[in-house]
Amino acid sequence: MQNLSRRRVLTIGAALGLVGVADPSKAWAWSSSGSIAATDTVTDPWGVWDDATDPLLVDLLENGQIPGVNTAFEKWVDNGDALPSGIPAALTTYLQAHNRLPSWADQTKLDRAAQFNKRMSMYLFLLYGLGSGIMSTVIPREARNVYWSEGGAVMKSRAAKTFTYGYDLSAVDAFKPTGHFVVTSNKTRLTHAAVRHLLPQSPHWRAVTDDQDFIPISNGDILITFHSLGTFVHGKLKSWGIRMSAAEEEAFLHMWQVALHLLGVRDDFIPATWAAARAQSQYALTPLLAPTPEGIDLADILLGLTSQVDLGVTKGFQREFARYLLGDQVGNWLRLPRDYASRAIIEVGWPAYVAFREGTSGIIPTTYSLFDQFIRGVAMLFLNNGTSATYTPITIPTGNRAG
Ligand code: HEM
Repeated sequence: MQNLSRRRVLTIGAALGLVGVADPSKAWAWSSSGSIAATDTVTDPWGVWDDATDPLLVDLLENGQIPGVNTAFEKWVDNGDALPSGIPAALTTYLQAHNRLPSWADQTKLDRAAQFNKRMSMYLFLLYGLGSGIMSTVIPREARNVYWSEGGAVMKSRAAKTFTYGYDLSAVDAFKPTGHFVVTSNKTRLTHAAVRHLLPQSPHWRAVTDDQDFIPISNGDILITFHSLGTFVHGKLKSWGIRMSAAEEEAFLHMWQVALHLLGVRDDFIPATWAAARAQSQYALTPLLAPTPEGIDLADILLGLTSQVDLGVTKGFQREFARYLLGDQVGNWLRLPRDYASRAIIEVGWPAYVAFREGTSGIIPTTYSLFDQFIRGVAMLFLNNGTSATYTPITIPTGNRAG
C-alpha cells in the first residue's frame, strides 16, 4: 500500500463520503469476522486470484478456443437459458458448477433490492456513471489494466459493455430466470480470468505496473472496485438524505454481496454489513487513489462520451458535477477544467433539488428543471445503450492493446 499522508487520505475520504479513514501506513487489517463467512482471519486479498477459473482460461486461450466461445455466447443471455452448445467440455463443466446463485442468496432481499434500484434509478445512473465511472480512473491498477487491455483502445464500446453489467444488475428481474445478471457475471468472471493471463504478456503494461501487481485483478482489486461502486453510492445516498429503510439498505448490500460472489470473490472478504464495508473501504480504496497518465486519458475519454449527448448543461457544468461528486483533489488529479459559476449553482441547487424530490422541502428551487433535465439526460444516455439495438454484449478478449 502506498505511504500517503494521513491528512491527504482524510481529505479524499471526506470528499467521497468515507469518514473516519484508517491510517494508510498500516497493512491490511480487515478481519474476516466482518465478512459473510464470519470467520476470524486476516488474509491479504491482493494475494488471492481465481483458482477455479484462471487455469481454464489459460487452456482456452492457448488452444485458440475463445473466438468460438464468444460466438457460442452470443445467444446465451438469460439466466434461465440452457448452457450454450458447441463450447469445450471443460467450460461446460465449469459453468454447470458456477452458473448459479450462492446457497446463501436470499431471493426476498434480491427482490427488495430490485425495487430499491427502480426507485433510486435516477440517482444511480448519475452516481455510477459520473461518480464511480470517473473514480475508476484514479484507481491506478484498474486504470492501467483497462488502458492496456484489448478494450482500452476502443473505450466507447468498452464503456457500453461495462454498462451492460450495471444495467443487468439493476434490472427488476436481474436474478430471475428472465434476467441476465448471472450470465453476464459469468462472462465477466471469464473475461477477468483471460485478462490475468493476457496482460502480463503486454510490454506496455509491464512497463507501468507496480511491483506487486504481477497478476492483475486480484480479489483485493475487485473489492476496491466494489467500494468505488456500491459503498460509494450508498454513502452518497446517505449523505444526500435520501429516504432508505434499513431493509432497503441491507437489500442493496445483499445484491452486491451476491454480485461479488459471482465475480469469484471469496466469502471471507465480502463485507457482512455496511459498517464492515466502510471499514474495508478505508483500507482498500481511499489510500490507493492516485492519478496516472492512463487514468487522466481515460477520464477525458469517458467524460467526452457523456458530453456527446445533450444533457442540457455545458461541458463545464458536467465536469464540475464530477468534481462535486468526487472532490476537488480527484478533479485536480484528472485536470478537470474549472467552471466556478456552474459550481456555485451545483452547491446550492443540487441539495435543493434532492430535498424537493425527496419531499423534505416543499419549495421548488428555481434551478429544478436544469437539474431534472441533467439527471434525465444522464439516465437516457445509459438506457439507450441498455435497451436499443446497440446493446453491446460482453466478449472475452484474446489479446492486449497494441500500443
Ligand atoms: C472487463 C466489470 C473489477 C479490469 C470487465 C467487464 C465487466 C467488468 C462488465 C466486461 C466488459 C468489458 O470488457 O469492459 C467489473 C466489475 C468489477 C470489476 C463489476 C468489480 C466489482 C475489475 C478490476 C480490474 C478490472 C478490479 C482491474 C484492476 C478489467 C479489464 C477488463 C474488464 C482489464 C477487460 C477489458 C477488455 O476486454 O479489454 N469488467 N470489473 N475489472 N475488467 Fe472488470
